[in-house]
Order: sequence, then structure tokens, then C-alpha cells
Amino acid sequence: MSGVRFTVHDFEEAARARLDPVYADFIAGGARDEITVWANEAAFARLRLLPRVLRGGAERDVCVTLFGERASLPILLSPTAFHKLVDPEGEAATARAAAAAGAIMIVSMASTVAVGEVADAARAAAEPGQAPPLWFQLYLQPDPGITEALVGRAEEAGCTALVVTVDSPVLGAGERNRRNGFHDLPPGMRCENLVDLRDGERGHVRQIAMSPEFTWEHVDRLRRFTDLPVLLKGVLHPEDARLAVRHGVDGLLLSNHGGRQLDTVPATLELLPELVAAVAGRIPIVLDGGIRRGTDVVKALALGAVAVGIGRPVMWALAEGGEKGVRRLLHLLRDELDDALALCGASRLADLTPDLVRVPGWAS
Ligand code: FNR
Repeated sequence: MSGVRFTVHDFEEAARARLDPVYADFIAGGARDEITVWANEAAFARLRLLPRVLRGGAERDVCVTLFGERASLPILLSPTAFHKLVDPEGEAATARAAAAAGAIMIVSMASTVAVGEVADAARAAAEPGQAPPLWFQLYLQPDPGITEALVGRAEEAGCTALVVTVDSPVLGAGERNRRNGFHDLPPGMRCENLVDLRDGERGHVRQIAMSPEFTWEHVDRLRRFTDLPVLLKGVLHPEDARLAVRHGVDGLLLSNHGGRQLDTVPATLELLPELVAAVAGRIPIVLDGGIRRGTDVVKALALGAVAVGIGRPVMWALAEGGEKGVRRLLHLLRDELDDALALCGASRLADLTPDLVRVPGWAS
């Protein structure tokens, strides 16, 4: 059984103590020198908060509405692959914890529980009629029939938005994985969303094609194929953000894949003001990468994100205590967020404005 976990880093430590070091490295690691992995967290540490006082507001509200659906927390569970590596129930356990907290979970295309079963688990854990939205992440596939079949599976499961990850024309070089010889799921585990997409396909990781061939035309095609809101994950350049708006994309998940794709790209927080300016309020931006504290959430929202995502913390919490671990993690982050809001003199997320954030050493 686990001890008391006071911070996200306590979950990380506990997970590392329990996990096979190969899997612990898979989760924590990034591409090449992991410069971007550390940049993400460092960017949050570098910014300072400048609170307001005497603004009243005894009650705080951290609910957020995205694409017309309400979630109890502005903290999403970013898509992460292979939850069964760290817990026998895998994504079903994660989904129950997210649903109980009223948080949106983005199911990875590479989940080890099929998206339909993940959705069933979420519904079973939520108050009747209160299941929070479940979104589905996918990589565009060279065979459009496969992409469309995946979208069909997500729609059938009741997912209410699609997140298309566009930062992976090739797989990022995770050198820890190379050193550890981790290339494959262990026997008995597979990517359940990929099973039987084509005759005889068994859900092997290799079925996920990463390809540099895609263009905005493929986004247009997907846009025409589905009525679900489509978000792009991994747009970093402001010009691409403007193109996304022009191509009818409904939202951006500003992400550098937690530093797992191109190393040395900027921290997502550093890019946020530029991307907020580029989309000019036309579509919402969710940010992930390096969120470890309630104050990190406050900083991202103050600079214009509507919500944030967490990746590694969920894997650590799932490894630490399964469904209960993820519940505790979400509880902890909610408490930290509530505390940070109160100390900033804010009672609603809309009270978080850029003037609350300072770069040290600089007057604004
Ligand atoms: C990921 N990420 C990811 N992204 C994606 O689009 N599809 C995926 O299947 C995965 N899988 C995955 C596995 C693991 C173990 C990690 C750590 C990450 C990236 C993820 O969605 C997110 O962008 C980052 O994890 C966010 O950074 P933090 O919160 O981990 O710092």
C-alpha cells in the first residue's frame, strides 16, 4: 500500500520504486538529450505570480466548458499509451478515476484497453448522466480507411472530440528506450483499438504508422469525414496555428509531446502567448507539458490557455496506486489549484489574466 502523497513528484518517486526500470524510463524519458523535457517544467518555475488582494469571492469555481460540454476541472488527462504497462486494468482504471473527478480523459489510439471499454468504465464510475467527456487521440494513417475506421470506433464509443497528433512524422528518438531495448509491448498486451482494423491484424504496436506524408489536405479530409470537434496536438509554429484556424480546426492542444519528439523545441509555456495571439480567440488552446503544480495551471490559464493537460503524472499515479492513485492525484491537483486561485485573489478561471504573471527581474 502507498504512503501519503503530497505532491506530483511523490507519485513519481513511488512509481519509480514500484516499476520495472525499463517502464519507468519509458514514461519519464524524452527525445535525445531531453532538453525540452526539462525546459517544460523550468518555464513554469521561471515565471512569477503577482496576486491581487481584497477581491472577495468566498467560493471558487474551477469548472470549464469545452465545445459545449462541462468538466469539473480545467485539467485534462493527455493521451498516453500503454497504461497496462503500469496497472493490470490499464486505461479502464484511469477512466474511472477521471470520471469520478469530472475530468476529461483523452484516450490514446495506442491504449491497451479498447476505447469502447474505456468509455464503459468512465460511465460506470460517474454519477448517473454525469459522465464527463471522453476524447480520442489518433495519428493520421497512410491508409485513409484505417484513419476512418479508428474515428468510427471512437464515435461509436461516444467520444465527443478528436485529437489528431501532428508532431510525429517519424517516431521521436527515445534513447533511454533504445538503451533499454524497449521496443514492444510484453506478451499478452496489445493496442486494442488496432485489432482487426484489417484482416488478421492483432493490435501490434508496429501497426501505428508514423509518416511524413501528411498535409493540410488530410486534415480537411478528416474534417469532412466527422462532425466531432477536431483538435490538433503538436502545432508549435504560430503560422501553423493560423493555418489550423483557416482549415476549420476546432482547437489546439499546444504540446511538444512532453519533449518526446523533436528535442530542443521551446517549452510550451514559452510559446503560449505567441499562439494565443495567432489564433486571436477564434479557437481554444489547451496546453500540456510540465504541469506539476496548481500554480502551473494558474500560469497557463492566466496566459490564455482554456485548460491544461497532464501526461506523466497520470502514469506515475496509475503505477503508484491504480484507479485510487489517479483519484488521489486529481484530488491533489484540484486542491493545489483551488489554493493557488484563492491566493491570487481569483474565484473563477476567468479571473486569471496575464497581469497576474511576471518574468522575474522585469517590470511589465
Ligand atoms: C505520451 N504522449 C502521447 N501523445 C500522443 O499524442 N499520443 C500518445 O499515445 C502518447 N503517449 C505517451 C506516452 C507516455 C508514457 C508519455 C509520457 C507521453 C504525450 C502526452 O500526450 C503529453 O503531450 C505529454 O506527456 C505532456 O507532458 P507531461 O505532462 O508528461 O510533462
